[in-house]
Amino acid sequence: TDDALVIFTPSGKRGRFPLGTPVLQAARQLGVDLDSVCGGRGICSKCQITPGYGEFPKHGLTVAADALSEWNAVEDRYKRIRGLIDGRRLGCQAKVMGDVVIDVPPESQVHKQVIRKSATDRVIEMDPATRAVYVEVAEPDMHEPSGDFERLAQALKDQWQIEDVEADLTLLRRLQPVLRKGEWKVTVVLNKCNHDARHRLLDIFPGFDERPLLGLAIDLGSTTIAAHLCDLRDGRVLASSGLMNPQIRFGEDLMSRVSYAMMNPGGDVEMTRAVREAMNTLAKALATEAQVPPEQIYETVFVCNPVMHHLLLGIDPVELGQAPFALATSSSLSFPARDLDLTAINPAARTYVLPCIAGHVGADCAAVALSEEPNKSKDMVLVVDVGTNAEILLGNETRVLACSSPTGPAFEGAQISSGQRAAPGAIERVEIDPVTKEPRFRVIGSDLWSDDPGFAEATKATGVTGICGSGIIEVVAEMRAAGILDAGGLIGGPDQVGTARCLPEGRTFSYLLHDASAEGGPRILVTQGDIRAIQLAKSALYAGARLLMDEMGVDTVDRVTLAGAFGAHISPKHAMILGMIPDVPLEKVVSAGNAAGTGARIALCNVAARNQIEEVVRHIHKVETAIEPRFQEHFVNASAIPNAVEPFPNLAT
Ligand code: FES
Repeated sequence: TDDALVIFTPSGKRGRFPLGTPVLQAARQLGVDLDSVCGGRGICSKCQITPGYGEFPKHGLTVAADALSEWNAVEDRYKRIRGLIDGRRLGCQAKVMGDVVIDVPPESQVHKQVIRKSATDRVIEMDPATRAVYVEVAEPDMHEPSGDFERLAQALKDQWQIEDVEADLTLLRRLQPVLRKGEWKVTVVLNKCNHDARHRLLDIFPGFDERPLLGLAIDLGSTTIAAHLCDLRDGRVLASSGLMNPQIRFGEDLMSRVSYAMMNPGGDVEMTRAVREAMNTLAKALATEAQVPPEQIYETVFVCNPVMHHLLLGIDPVELGQAPFALATSSSLSFPARDLDLTAINPAARTYVLPCIAGHVGADCAAVALSEEPNKSKDMVLVVDVGTNAEILLGNETRVLACSSPTGPAFEGAQISSGQRAAPGAIERVEIDPVTKEPRFRVIGSDLWSDDPGFAEATKATGVTGICGSGIIEVVAEMRAAGILDAGGLIGGPDQVGTARCLPEGRTFSYLLHDASAEGGPRILVTQGDIRAIQLAKSALYAGARLLMDEMGVDTVDRVTLAGAFGAHISPKHAMILGMIPDVPLEKVVSAGNAAGTGARIALCNVAARNQIEEVVRHIHKVETAIEPRFQEHFVNASAIPNAVEPFPNLAT
C-alpha cells in the first residue's frame, strides 16, 4: 500500500498517512501534542521524537528498521552542533515510510506538565499566554505594495494559523530593521491573554532566536512579597525570592495603611510608589539569581489582598476601610506592565491580576482557590490561608464559601514580647514536659533540640533570638497541655503550677522559656499579654471558619488545608490544641505551603486557568464577618483554649 499506520504514544492517537508524510505533520493532523517553534524547518529541535522498532504485540504491529526515512542532512547538522540523544529524530524531518510507533517525550510536548511544589503534588499543565514562533516573511514587492507588518501578519497566518495580530508603535518602530537584519526570517514573541481577541506582538528578533521567555508570579502580601521567576516554555521555577513589603513603614497591617491613606493627602501615592519600587528590585534580584537578563521577563501575574491590590494599581484604598467595603473593581485585569512602572523588565511585558472575591477577600484568596480547588473536592474542605488577615474557604464541588478574618499580626510574631519573624535563631518548635514543666525547643537553622549535646555550639552563630509564629503557637499550646495555662488562658503562679519558671510580672505571671542573660543573651518569656494576643488571633481565625460552617450548615469538616508561607510551618496538633481550627482527625490536616503563590504560578503558566478561576470566583459566596453577629459569638467562645462550647473529640486521641 502507499500509506502506513502511525501510532503515537503516550497519547495512543493513531491514523494512516501517505508514505512520505513528515511525522510532525501526522502529529498535527491527529492533534498530537508535539512542539515546534520553527514550524518544521529543522531549526528549533523542539519536535524531537523517539521511534520504536521491532515487535509491538499490543498494537499487533512489527515496525521495520526503515519505517522512517533515512537520517537527513538537517538532522546531521543538528546532531553535530548540539547533539541529539541516541535514538531521537526530528519529527519535522523524519518521514513515515512504513507502519510505525512514535513516542513523544515529555520535553517535546507543548502542554507539558510540571509538578507543583505543594503537599498535594498536583501538576500544572503548560498553556502560557506568551510564546515565541519563528516565521519567514515575504519580501516587499513594488508590484504588490503592502506594509512589512501586514506581510508578517500574513506569514503568521499562513505558517502558524495565527490570525489577528496587533503591534504597538514601539514595536512597529523596530520592525523594519529587524526584518532586514534577519533577511526576512524572524522570531516573534506573541501574547494572548484570555481577555484578548487578538495576539499581541511583544518582541521581534532577527533569525531563529531561542532565548527563554520568562514570567513572574507574584504574591504581594501585606508583610512579605514573594515571587517566582518561571520559564514560560516549561514552567520551571528558575528562582524564588521574597522581600519585606516596604509599605510596612506606613502601617503594620492593612487597616493602618488604609488609615494612612485617609489621614495623609497623597499617602496612597507614596505607598504605591514604594511597592512598585520593591517589585522592580525583586525582579532584578530574581533575574540576577537565575542569571538571566530581566528584559526576558514578558509577563507578570499578581495575586494580593484587596488593599494591596488597590495600592499596587494606584487606586486609593479608602473605600476598603469602611462599610460596605466596595472595591474599585473585582474583575481580573490584563494590561501593560509598564502601567505599574515595572521598568526593570521587558518594556512590552504584560500583567495579569487575578480577580478579587469581595472587599475583604482578595485575589490572593482566588489564587488559593485555584491552587487547592475546593470546588472540585468531594470532601467538605476548609482551606485557611494564615496571615495578618486570614482568608478562609469552605466548600466542596457543590458550593464554596469564603470570608476573611482579622487575625492581626500575632501569628507572624508581631505584638509578642519576644516575637520575631521567621529567621535563623528564632524558636520554631517547643515541647514542655507535662510533669517537670521544663521546656525544650529548636531554633531555625539547627536540627538540634535545646537539650541535645552540641546545641550551644550549633547555634553559636545566631544565638537564640526570639520566637517566630509557629514557635508561639507551639509554646502556647504546650503550656496549655502541660497545665501551665488554664482554659481561660491565664498563666498560673509558681506554686500553683509547680515550677519556678512561672515568674510574677505585676499582677500576672510569665513563663520563662529561655534564659541566656548570664551570657549576655536574651531572656525569652511568654507573658500574659502574649497569650492574650494569640487568643485574639486564634479566636478570629476559628470564628471565621465556624461562621462559614454555619452558613454551609455543617458541624464538622472532612479535612483542613493550612496555606500560606506561615501555614506551612504550623504543627496541626498544636493548632488544634489551641482551637485555631475545627476538630478533625490530625491526619486530615495538610499543609499546602504558599498556595496563593502556587495559584499565581498556575495562572502564569496556563492561560485557560485564568478563565477557570474567573468562573470559580463568580460562584464563590462571600460571607462578611464584620457585620455578622454570630461571628462575635463564635469569637467569644473561641477565646477559651481550645473552646468554651465546641467539642474537640480528636484531641483526646
Ligand atoms: Fe523545529 Fe523540527 S519543528 S526542528
